[in-house]
Amino acid sequence: MKHIAIIMDGNGRWAKERGLPRAEGHRAGAESVREVMDACKELGVKYLTLYAFSSENWNRPEAEIEALMTLLDTFLDEKAEELDKQNVRLKAIGQIERLPQSTRDRLERIQAHTAKNDSMTLVLALSYGAREEITHAAKSIAQAAIDGKISPEDITNDLFAQHLYTADIPDPDLLIRTSGEMRISNFLLWQISYSEIVIVKKMWPDFRQGDLFAAVEEFNKRHRRFGAL
Ligand code: FPP
Repeated sequence: MKHIAIIMDGNGRWAKERGLPRAEGHRAGAESVREVMDACKELGVKYLTLYAFSSENWNRPEAEIEALMTLLDTFLDEKAEELDKQNVRLKAIGQIERLPQSTRDRLERIQAHTAKNDSMTLVLALSYGAREEITHAAKSIAQAAIDGKISPEDITNDLFAQHLYTADIPDPDLLIRTSGEMRISNFLLWQISYSEIVIVKKMWPDFRQGDLFAAVEEFNKRHRRFGAL
C-alpha cells in the first residue's frame, strides 16, 4: 500500500446535526486530518492525498471559504515544523494561483523547505478539479507540440501523466470517501483508473485512526487484477 487518497466529505452535515455552524464541522475535520496523517505514517504509507478544497468549492458562501482558508493557514503554521521533523514532504496540487496570497506563501515556503524529505508525501488537493487538471495537461502538451519539442505520435499515457499535477506521484491504491456518498466529485479522474474504492458511512469529523485501519484491511482483502485475469 503506497498511496491512499481521501475525499473528506460530511463536515457540513456533521455540524448541522449538532446545530453548529458549518465552519465548526471543518474545524473538527481538521482534527481528523491530523489523526489520519499519524495513522498513515504508522502504516508506512508513502503518499497521502487529501481533497481539501475543490474547484467547485469557490461557489460556497464567502464566509465559509474564508473559514476554510484560515483553517488551512493554521494547519500549515502548526504542522510546518513537525512535518519536517517527521521527514514528510508537502506537495500542493490544483489551481494554487487562485488561493489567497497568505496561503500561497505558506505553501511555497513549506514545500521548498520539505522538498527533500522522503518518509512520506502529504499531497493537499487545493482549488483542485480533475477536469481542470486534464485540460491544463492538454494545453501544456499542445504547447510542447507547437514548440516542436514533441510530435503527436509521442503522446502516450505515460507522457500525458507527466503533464498532470501529480507527475511524480504514483496512482492511489486506495480511495476512501466518507459520509456514504458514492461519487468521485471531480477528484483524480485520471489517477484512480485502477484504485480500489472504500466508502465509509461516518462523516469526516468522526473518522478516526481505527476507521483508516479498517479501510486498509478491506483493501487487503480485495484481489486487484488491473483488467487481467
Ligand atoms: C467536505 O464537507 C469537506 C470540505 C469541503 C473541506 C475539507 C476540509 C477540511 C477537512 C479541513 C481543512 C483541511 C486541512 C488539510 C487542514 P462538506 O462541507 O461538503 O460537507 P457536507 O457535504 O456535509 O455539506
